[in-house]
Amino acid sequence: MSTITTCWRGRVFAAIDEERRTMYLETSRLELLPLDPDEHTEALHEVYGNPAVMRWWTCPPLASVEQTRQVLAEEGTRPGAALWTLRRTADRSVIGMAGLLGGVAIPGLTWILAEQAWGHGFATEAATAVIDHAFTHMGHGRVEAWVESTNARSIAVCRKVGLSERGRLVQRYEHRERPHEMIVFGRASRPDPISVVHLQPVVQVADVTATATLLCAALAARVSFTVGEPADMAGIVLGPWSTGPGVRLVRCSPSTCAPVEIGLDVGSGFAELYQSVLGSGAVHVEPPVDQPWGRREFAFRLPEGHRIVVSTPN
Ligand SMILES: CC(C)(COP(=O)(O)OP(=O)(O)OC[C@H]1O[C@@H](n2cnc3c(N)ncnc32)[C@H](O)[C@@H]1OP(=O)(O)O)[C@@H](O)C(=O)NCCC(=O)NCCS
Repeated sequence: MSTITTCWRGRVFAAIDEERRTMYLETSRLELLPLDPDEHTEALHEVYGNPAVMRWWTCPPLASVEQTRQVLAEEGTRPGAALWTLRRTADRSVIGMAGLLGGVAIPGLTWILAEQAWGHGFATEAATAVIDHAFTHMGHGRVEAWVESTNARSIAVCRKVGLSERGRLVQRYEHRERPHEMIVFGRASRPDPISVVHLQPVVQVADVTATATLLCAALAARVSFTVGEPADMAGIVLGPWSTGPGVRLVRCSPSTCAPVEIGLDVGSGFAELYQSVLGSGAVHVEPPVDQPWGRREFAFRLPEGHRIVVSTPN
């Protein structure tokens, strides 16, 4: 194993561990040690066994040191993973873990700290070093962090280390009954030349006003604009805010309307939405079905034959 010591940006020192592609890093108050499940599990189990810390994690609190060792070993061997144990320089105490998840399309930042270490900027300090490492030494052009929309501390860390919101998605962890909304934060090593903020299907309908009214009743949507009187076109936002996912309705002759299929992902409120569609006067409502691809879905049709599929993780 070859070891090279470098001075990095004047404040972080690193020694390259070629075999593991994870470097020993130092920040002003922390040492980032390449995570070794055999050496570090004992200390890290305090973190992974604490229900308050694990509230937002992908699995429930880990029940034993052995379980924590297994989880860490598994995480660490996924392709592209680079995980560090965080040790305070002042007293050499292990306070948590930070790094990059493996086996994902875009390198995914991860961080977790012992409860008593929260609120001192340690996560921000560790994440800054991990991102610098990812861009400078691992050659990554972008990193992401997927954070549950209620995890305010983690969201604050994302913003402080220069990640910005790129989109949202719905997930359900195996140990939870209900799905939750995730915010996907991202940062690129160089500014992106193009930024697409929405994909908006354009749907041809015979009666723009009637379809807009139906969608508002069925999906708690709102009309953001209309053109013409009666309307030739309308912008529909699928939610209560001034912007968000939506469709544009355009008037066409009933004989030339080509039916399309639109998929909607919802987080909370799937059952309520189904009731709302039933009560909206929409026709051909297909009841919820657990699909083999891990989704629970129902569908309904607009008068022109367009099929709207509403989906949530099952
Ligand atoms: C997320 C986590 C690593 C953050 O650790 P931390 O050391 O508190 O983070 P930092 O101190 O670097 O930054 C936290 C920021 O959140 C802010 N914050 C603190 N309490 C907060 C609260 N209740 N609500 C919102 N923001 C809060 C802090 O003010 C700080 O920002 P500031 O420095 O500008 O004041 C830690 O809370 C944790 O381990 N959580 C459980 C595991 C987890 O959820 N991991 C992330 C999964 S995506």
